[in-house]
Order: sequence, then structure tokens, then C-alpha cells
Amino acid sequence: MNEPMIKIRNLTMSFGSVTPLKNINLDIQRGDIVALIGPSGTGKSTLLRLINRLETPTSGSIIVDGEDITAPDCRLELLRKKIGMIFQSFNLFAHLTVIENIMAAPVSVAHLSRQAAYDQAMKLLKSVGLQSKALSYPSELSGGQQQRIAIVRALAMNPEMLLFDEPTSALDPTMVSEVENVIRRVAEEGTTMMIVTHEMEFARSIANRVIFMENGCIHEDGTPDQIFNHPQSERTRQFIQRLKVLTLTVDSHEVDTLSCFTLIEEFVAKNGIPRRTKNALLSLFDELCIGMLLSRMESPLIKMMIEYGVDGHVTVNIDYNGDRFDIADSTDDIALAIVKAFIADMSYNYDADDREAPNHLKISLVD
Ligand SMILES: Nc1ncnc2c1ncn2[C@@H]1O[C@H](COP(=O)(O)OP(=O)(O)O)[C@@H](O)[C@H]1O
Ligand SMILES: [Mg+2]
Repeated sequence: MNEPMIKIRNLTMSFGSVTPLKNINLDIQRGDIVALIGPSGTGKSTLLRLINRLETPTSGSIIVDGEDITAPDCRLELLRKKIGMIFQSFNLFAHLTVIENIMAAPVSVAHLSRQAAYDQAMKLLKSVGLQSKALSYPSELSGGQQQRIAIVRALAMNPEMLLFDEPTSALDPTMVSEVENVIRRVAEEGTTMMIVTHEMEFARSIANRVIFMENGCIHEDGTPDQIFNHPQSERTRQFIQRLKVLTLTVDSHEVDTLSCFTLIEEFVAKNGIPRRTKNALLSLFDELCIGMLLSRMESPLIKMMIEYGVDGHVTVNIDYNGDRFDIADSTDDIALAIVKAFIADMSYNYDADDREAPNHLKISLVD
């Protein structure tokens, strides 16, 4: 295999007591289009800023094209020429016109003649349909236009790699696709890219590799098909499905059922879950977890996990300890009839290796 464009080894970054990156190891190959996804505060921006050496790592190394950019003698201007960055907030120079924004670095850093820089800038502007804005100031442009200019400004340095940190997060939704389309075109030209994004469809369609970060670690790394269709970990699956999750644990006969009802009601209210579903969840907890399960258990452990997906579908997983017991075999016909009215599909399995709670019940609610 060719030498990777970027080789990250044991990279750790701490700010005081916060450690946003914990011992990251990662290779990026030339031509890779990497989508970096994960919840906020998990170190995605910190990782991009380190690769572009806007931050200095606490420990570990980042090798770009064979050169350790964490070394004190690393020539930052060469690195910045090689790797361009696009920020959520565009970061255009407010006091310069569009054309001056694009020409600035080619003239002052790459020492292009003003004419050559101008010709190139106009060509790039044309490619994103904004040549008529050459003499405008950033404040006169829409967010989508400003971000297209920011991309063009980075391209004017002929970078080998581009880093995008949530390039469409600050945009009005109507402008997201115009910016995504420009990024797509740049990707097709073969520029290596890392893109932090919350737009899952965009990540899936543009990337050849998707990295899911959580808590400062790379949690899962694979092709879009692996990550989006066959995620290895439960956390990845929850994240990509944007699931809202509530877990209730009953581990004593003295459980405060009223406060559990309150938790369900708050969860329902917060996520705008329909009333019918709320009734189903309250019944499942009351009739099934308390009525059918708790009453027959000596030292109970019942976990009810409610997942509410963006598509409005609700799944409930109930795990419990004790001997094999499928609630479908329960003799409590009335309780069973009540809960079955809400259930579209139910499956039960007993996993003897699971010492904590071997009974697993998966319930899909009627939509
Ligand atoms: N310059 C900084 N000083 C102190 N803490 C920081 C700094 N930059 C980032 N952090 C902290 O590091 C964590 C990860 O931040 P960040 O990389 O921005 O996450 P993400 O981009 O995934 O949302 C957060 O807890 C953030 O508050
Ligand atoms: Mg960020």
C-alpha cells in the first residue's frame, strides 16, 4: 500500500482537565473522502484543527506526507498550502471583496503574480456560479454564497487535502444543497478530504469512508455501507438513526413507579411523541415490567429501553434477569391483551451467556 497521506499515532489532546482526544490512531490515504460523524463535544473539530496544526497536541504524532508536523521545525506555511480548511462560520475576511479574499493567499503565500491570481480566482468563481459577486463584500452575500467563496478560496491554493468542519451547519436549510454540491464536485476531482458533518445522507453519499467518533475516540471506522447499514456497535446504530433513548431500570420491589411514569411523560413531551405512543409506553411499563415481570422476581433487574427514531417508530427493549420466561406464555391474560393492542411485533430470546439479564424482549410498537 502507498504511504498514507496522513498518519496519526497515539494522538492525545488535553485542555486542562478536558481530554477531547484520547490516543487516536488513524491513517488517511490519498484520495480518501472521509466523513467524520459523532455527537457534539467528541473532539471532531479538535482533530481537524490538529491536522492543520491550528493546535499543538499534548502528545503523539501527525505525519503528513512523511513529515512530522508536530516537530518544532515544521514549516507551517507549507502545511497550510497543502491542507486547506473550511469552517462552519465561513471565516472570510470581512474588509476584503470576494476577489481579494480569493487572491490573498495565492499572492502573499504562494507568490503568484496578481494577474495570475486574478485569472485563477475568476475561473474558480465561475465554476461555482459566483463570478458576478467578485467585487461584493462578504456581508452582501447569503450564507450559502459565502461558504461557496470560502471553498473557492481554499481551492485557490491548489491544496492536496481539504478539511471541512461542519460546512453547512450555519446555513439556512435552503442553502445546504448548493454548498454540498460544490463539495461533491471537488470530491470528484480527487482531492483528499475530511468532512465533519451532521448530514447523514451527505456523509453516506460523498464518503468512501465514515468514521464515528465518540468521547474523544474513534468508535467505528468503515465504508458507508458498513457504518450506515451494518454498524458493529449499538452506539453507532443509535447515533446514525438519531434515536432518542430513555432507559428505565427496576432493581427493587420498592421501585418508585410514579417517578418512572414521570420520566416517560417527560421523554414523550420533550420529543413530541404522539399521545397514543405515550399510552403504549406507560402500559408496557406498568402492565408488563411491573405487573408481569416484577411480581414474579425475587431479586429483580429489569431494564426497559425506549428508542424513538426520526421516522417516528418506537422500539422497546426489555431485558430482565431470572429463569427463561417469555411474557407470551404469561397466564395474565388481561395484561397481555392490554399490551398486545399496542404491539406490532414482538420477539423473545434467552441468552444464557448474559449473566446479568438473560431474557431479552424486543417490541416494535404500532405506528
Ligand atoms: N481551546 C479549547 N480549550 C478548552 N477546551 C476545549 C478547547 N477546544 C475544545 N475544547 C473542548 O474539547 C471538547 C471537544 O471539542 P470539539 O473538538 O470542538 O468537539 P466536536 O467538534 O466534536 O463538537 C469539548 O469538551 C470542548 O469544550
Ligand atoms: Mg465541532
